[in-house]
Amino acid sequence: MKQAEHDLVVIGAGPGGYVAAIRGAQLGLNVACIEKASKLGGTCLRVGCIPSKALLEASERYHSARFELQDFGVNCKNVELDLPAMMKRKDDIVDGLTGGIAGLFKKNKVRHYVGHGSIKAPGLVEVIGDDPVTITAKHIIIATGSVSAGLPGIEIDRDIVGTSTEALAYPSVPEHLVVIGAGVIGLELGSVWARLGSRVTVLEYMNRILPGMDDEIAKAAQKSLKKQGLEFHLGKKVTGARAKGKKGIVEVEGMDPIECDRVLVCVGRLPNTGKIGLENVGIELGKRGVIPVDAHFQTSVPGIYAIGDAIPGPMLAHKAEEEGVACVEMIVNGYGHVDYNTIPGVVYTEPEIASVGKTEEELKEAGIAYNKGTFPYMANGRARALNAKEGMVKILADATTDRVLGVHIIGARAGDLIAECVAAMAFGASSEDIARTCHAHPTLAEIVKEAALAVDKRQIHM
Ligand code: NAI
Repeated sequence: MKQAEHDLVVIGAGPGGYVAAIRGAQLGLNVACIEKASKLGGTCLRVGCIPSKALLEASERYHSARFELQDFGVNCKNVELDLPAMMKRKDDIVDGLTGGIAGLFKKNKVRHYVGHGSIKAPGLVEVIGDDPVTITAKHIIIATGSVSAGLPGIEIDRDIVGTSTEALAYPSVPEHLVVIGAGVIGLELGSVWARLGSRVTVLEYMNRILPGMDDEIAKAAQKSLKKQGLEFHLGKKVTGARAKGKKGIVEVEGMDPIECDRVLVCVGRLPNTGKIGLENVGIELGKRGVIPVDAHFQTSVPGIYAIGDAIPGPMLAHKAEEEGVACVEMIVNGYGHVDYNTIPGVVYTEPEIASVGKTEEELKEAGIAYNKGTFPYMANGRARALNAKEGMVKILADATTDRVLGVHIIGARAGDLIAECVAAMAFGASSEDIARTCHAHPTLAEIVKEAALAVDKRQIHM
């Protein structure tokens, strides 16, 4: 077997891994990145964030051309769906971006090894593939991401009964799609197919959608998605799902079995930490297969680190990126930083949902006294111009210090508006700080300012 030597070897080229590799190279390390998929970018780029956003955008435009543009005085007749063209556009976007990472690797002199990486010993990784190689490196970062979780009784055939990967590439619009799990994936991909014409039934075990998100915002989201045609059955435990000929059958406690055309299983994801040789170095896995790490992302074995979905915390691309950078900076400089209190979460439905910091429920449970300011999109001029009247911004601030503890938004461009709130919280801002910041008019960002003013009950436009 061929031999190679590097300073740092990163296993996995998702958002955590490829960013860690590039940052390592920037800091002067001789870096290798092992990725078995032919395209770089991981789940996020290939079969996650990016293709789903491409389809969300495309399906939204189709829906808007059919049902919304007339409100703007634009009449579109004979609007037709060209699903193959929509899928091709999505694939082209993915190809462009994955190719872009290959370019960044080249620019930064990160060596890409194609194959399956497995740790043989501290400082030793084997790449199994067409061109096997053994790599020695002082530092190893595990960035192997996560895989879709299954459920007992659910027989995933990757055709009729599939995961998000299949739901990003259905060859035709399913007449009836059953979504198991009202989490982020279920709502985003459920929205896509509902807009393209599917009847969408969402089955959720909990008595609410989007567990973990602020309850008031989740309720508003459910109301809005229901209006768009998604049918919710909450408090329902799915006990089985399988293909039966060309149909899917879903069994649910307390309901008759549901016959449908396709089933999307999205009940969470699990760390992808098997078969990477952890047993060879004595790294023991924690709950649900996570790799325990210390504050420097180091595992129980010196020189072996782990980041992203493989370790505890929210399974989000941007969290993995932050950890990748911090981990490498800690290796090289001895310090690095991730602010876990200010990691935003965004659900790309229409309206969008975005959140940072504590929810009202968390504050109540922790016994923290807070003031709350809310402001509706309806009262904002730009929102009216955009026909985006639905939604609100809610700011939660400490009752004593006024420090912002959480911001929750439902409405157009929520994912972009939250960035200001994340920055404010990262700098320890009070709601008064946001309220005293000049916001351009007319913009949706003024809703954030008004919500901040509303914390002190002095909003202007309501
Ligand atoms: P999730 O954890 O967001 O939601 C899973 C849902 O399935 C939960 O509501 C859960 O209560 C429900 N469930 C579990 N067992 C069930 C059963 N037997 N019957 C009915 N419902 C059941 O997981 P999801 O949507 O699969 O997403 C996976 C990960 O990917 C998440 O960590 C998410 O953060 C991430 N992701 C993030 C995106 C974003 O940031 N926009 C987009 C897509 C995924």
